[in-house]
This record gives sequence, structure tokens and C-alpha cells, in this order.
Amino acid sequence: MINNEYKAFKEECKDYIEKQYSNDEFKDLSNSWYQNSLDFRYSYNFEYLGRPIIQYPQDLIAIQEIIHKTKPELIIETGIAHGGSLIFSASMLALLDIMEGIDPKNSNRKVIGIDIEIKPHNRKAIEDHPLSYKLDLIEGSSTDAEVVSKVREEAKAFKRIMLLLDSNHTHEHVFNELKSYADLVSLNSYCVISDTSIEKTKKGSYPNRPWDVGNSPLSALKEWLKNHSEFEIDTEIDKKLMISVSPNGYIKRIK
Ligand SMILES: C[S@@+](CC[C@H](N)C(=O)[O-])C[C@H]1O[C@@H](n2cnc3c(N)ncnc32)[C@H](O)[C@@H]1O
Repeated sequence: MINNEYKAFKEECKDYIEKQYSNDEFKDLSNSWYQNSLDFRYSYNFEYLGRPIIQYPQDLIAIQEIIHKTKPELIIETGIAHGGSLIFSASMLALLDIMEGIDPKNSNRKVIGIDIEIKPHNRKAIEDHPLSYKLDLIEGSSTDAEVVSKVREEAKAFKRIMLLLDSNHTHEHVFNELKSYADLVSLNSYCVISDTSIEKTKKGSYPNRPWDVGNSPLSALKEWLKNHSEFEIDTEIDKKLMISVSPNGYIKRIK
């Protein structure tokens, strides 16, 4: 229930969020912290319910807020790796079920995860996980025509759909992922594009990767958004996170 104390508390938070986001020193520190964190592979050090998850914890809290608010039935994720983010999404869907008084095992809510290569040891650990009943794993490129049509076919059974893109971070690939799946995102729901943060790094920060400043998820998203006014960037999320792998990458379907 929304009471006056809660409202006042949220108003106070809003003020501080505006202040932190308009503070150049805090912004520079956050950007510099992020750039430094790359040297130590910071995002590789966490686990979620027993599976390695390649994320910054701040983004997981933001995604949890979105899931709680928008109550998706289906989450489509590209980029599985060790499975941590899939298990995270599955756990959020199971919690939504529980909060609605539904036995998670008897609900339709589920996660479709796509990866070009699911290593056998990762597949086994994911399939052995107690939350695996919420998961559908698809091996193949997320932009492969067969994979796309399989996902789109499965998605027909769901009304509230959310999309998380975290696979190959080149401009071309992310642009094609948006083309392939973004229209499945339901009204008021979100697509989260990972590693838009590449644009905030020094050029050459990813010497062994095909992406860089100018060839990144954010460059793809900016080009794609030019013809997709049904989505807008939710900058309120960026303002409160300060540190995120998805700055400007939380997009909301508004029509
Ligand atoms: C950053 S990891 C995903 C991390 C995971 N979402 C997490 O939070 O733990 C990126 C993954 O994308 C996969 N990948 C690379 N190219 C791909 C493609 N064309 N289609 C689907 N997955 C791809 C890689 O195999 C890798 O497992």
C-alpha cells in the first residue's frame, strides 16, 4: 500500500537522484571506476544461486525492479555463457508466481535462453539447477533465421514479454537482434541492451574483441531507434545506477 511516508521517501530519493546525476565529479568518478574495473574483469567475479553471472550487481537490481513492475510471463535472453543471468531471470519469474499465489511449477512463466555455443559443462549445470524447469535453452546464433522463427513461434503463447540482449556486442549483431526480436516486447515492458557501456570506454579497451567505441550495442541502438519511436530510453534508470553496463540501454515500449 502506498502511504504518505513512502511517497515522501520516494520524493526525497528522486531529489538525490537528480543531484547525483547532475554532479560532474560523481559522474567522472563513476566513469573512471568503470574504466578501471575492465582491467580486473570485475563483471566475471559474481555468482547467482550457484551459477557464474557476468554482470554488474547494480544492473541486476535495476532488472529486478523492472520485472517486479512489469510482471513478464516470458523473458527472452540472448547470451547464456555459464547460465547465471538465465537463473536470475528464472528466479525472478518464480518469485512473481509466488507473490501471485501460484505454484511456480504450475505456471507458464518461462525464460528462453539463446547462445551460439552452450558448453557441455554449462548445459549440464544449468539443466541440473533446481530452477531449470523455467528454462528453454536454444543453441545457435541469436540472429540465425531458424532460431529467430523458433523463438517467435514459442513467444506466440505469451502476452507480457521482456527481452535481454547480451550476446555478441558488435553494432551489426545487436542491430539484427533488435530487428529480430524487439517487436515481441509488450507495451510498457522493456528491452535491456547490455554493454552499451562500451561507448564510455577508451577506444581500444577490448583488443581481443570485434567491438569497440563506434561499433557497439549503443551505436546499434541509436541507429535502430531512429525508426522505432514505439520505444524510448528510460533515463531514470541510468540516473540512479551511475555504474551500469547498460547506460541508455534500458528501453521501454511506450506504444
Ligand atoms: C557476456 S556472455 C553472456 C553472459 C550472461 N548473459 C550472463 O549474464 O551471465 C556472452 C555470450 O554470448 C554468446 N554469443 C556470442 N555470439 C553469439 C551469437 N551470435 N548468438 C548467440 N549468442 C552468442 C557467447 O557464446 C557468450 O556465451
